[in-house]
Amino acid sequence: MIIAVDGPAGAGKSTVTRQLAERLGFQFLDTGAMYRAVTYVALRKNVSLDDQNALAEIAQNIVLEFVGDEVFISGENVTLAIRTPDVTRKIKSIADAVEVRRHLVALQQKIAATGDFISEGRDQGTVAFPDAICKIYLTASTRFRAVRRALQLEQQGISTDLEEVVTEINARDYNDENRKVGRLLKADDAVEINTDNKTVNDVVDELEQIIKEKIADTKIASASSNRQKA
Ligand code: DC
Repeated sequence: MIIAVDGPAGAGKSTVTRQLAERLGFQFLDTGAMYRAVTYVALRKNVSLDDQNALAEIAQNIVLEFVGDEVFISGENVTLAIRTPDVTRKIKSIADAVEVRRHLVALQQKIAATGDFISEGRDQGTVAFPDAICKIYLTASTRFRAVRRALQLEQQGISTDLEEVVTEINARDYNDENRKVGRLLKADDAVEINTDNKTVNDVVDELEQIIKEKIADTKIASASSNRQKA
């Protein structure tokens, strides 16, 4: 079973989906970490961010491992290294690269085929898992998202100016909503939840309810269709 969670940067997807996965006994897939990991490798190898072939090659060959909340590339722990402001600023070229997306979507589908997953990103309900049993579109106002992002950066010891974070979030929204392939888009059959003024716990409770109802409805529908066939 796949649950697809999409939405803009800072809507709380990561925190909420990690907790939801734990409650539901699902595994968690952070697809943003994959784009971050490819960006990190490209920067480290000094690959030109315009070199589509070289970027595609990195995406095709990257050896990624997710262990709990930690991310490894070929055995190296890059959990913090992939979340620096430098990686975040340069990720656009990687996320826009059509061949990179093709390789990473294939990898997401391969990983998700191994069990029950909640997968979070921008194009999970539209491109990677159009048949997901439940699709959620998590959003929040720019202000709320900027405050969350600023707090996250502070926790990492990076001092921030809120107006700068707002500008950065607006730029990321523009990039995410306007890329040619895999752009941020609410799937027609996704349930939209706004997380403004809600605690993480409130949102997790709300989503748990929605997902459990959706799974129950799907099971009833499939049992009834099996009865009709018999
Ligand atoms: O969720 P995040 O902020 O870690 O994602 C980092 C970037 O990766 C984001 O700006 C857009 C890109 N991304 C994407 O294009 N498709 C996804 N499925 C996930 C992330």
